[in-house]
Amino acid sequence: MSAQARTSAGPLLSVSGLTISFRTSAGRTDVVDDLSFEVPRGGALGIVGESGSGKSMTSLAVMGLLPKGGEAAGSIRFDGIELSDLPEKRMRQVRGDRIAMIFQDPLSSLNPYYRVGTQIMEAYRSHRPGASRSLARRVAIEALERVHIRDAATRVDHYPHQFSGGMRQRIMIAMALTMEPDLIIADEPTTALDVTVQAQILDLLAEIRRDTGASLILITHDLAVVSEVTDDIVVMRDGVSVEKGTTEQVFSDPQADYTRRLLDAVPRIDDEIGVLRTTTSLPTIPGATR
Ligand SMILES: Nc1ncnc2c1ncn2[C@@H]1O[C@H](COP(=O)(O)OP(=O)(O)OP(=O)(O)O)[C@@H](O)[C@H]1O
Ligand SMILES: [Mg+2]
Repeated sequence: MSAQARTSAGPLLSVSGLTISFRTSAGRTDVVDDLSFEVPRGGALGIVGESGSGKSMTSLAVMGLLPKGGEAAGSIRFDGIELSDLPEKRMRQVRGDRIAMIFQDPLSSLNPYYRVGTQIMEAYRSHRPGASRSLARRVAIEALERVHIRDAATRVDHYPHQFSGGMRQRIMIAMALTMEPDLIIADEPTTALDVTVQAQILDLLAEIRRDTGASLILITHDLAVVSEVTDDIVVMRDGVSVEKGTTEQVFSDPQADYTRRLLDAVPRIDDEIGVLRTTTSLPTIPGATR
């Protein structure tokens, strides 16, 4: 639990009328237009859409981390706090304490020159400045155990290159967990992984959500990925939401043509939502490095 008082009513995150634009030499372009969605406390939302549809910009806007030239308008309420006009110093606290982000490529987020334990300890101590080194180390080992890294007490002293891609993604999740976030935003967390490892990471995210009560936003271009993990889905195309509903509704009775096309791209959908169970039995693609 973080130090801030919590308002317990209403959704954890409520985004409404979010518009994101970039100023370029050619003028202003909107990359997200009038987007609204909610994430209930303890709930999981999937944001799905093809490349360039605005998924990452949406999550970066929530984090207050839009790239230079990007501007967000509209309302982003997190636990009753309006984030869009929060001073940067307080926004940094929200990022450090309450919202954690996991990216597609764990290698770009892990420093190759430091032991993974050192990096987890550092992340933990930046959020708990008073914590001793020995406590931070214990937390790091526990976090690695939590994400099922075997022999964590030894592995904590290894370097990123000594782990597989799937394990590195687990380490990123472990790092996020040490701050006990209320909301985890995972942006294409499994895209770089083969299908079997993908399913393991998704299982892990579902397990963490169950055990910690954290809410989750899972961003992906692949509808199969969200089927087992999320309660609700927003389908985005060219910066607008073309469909919203429960995961079950969207899979069983898609309303938008675009959603239907995305569903057609999903290999072998079972009647019940068992996509990943089906795809995990596929052979691993030869040449996949993980
Ligand atoms: N710095 C920038 N300046 C101008 N436009 C940008 C900038 N960064 C991103 N965009 C544009 O914003 C749009 C949305 O990009 P975004 O990264 O959110 O897509 P995405 O849905 O996450 O795609 P992907 O699945 O490939 O990650 C794209 O058209 C992109 O070209
Ligand atoms: Mg993206």
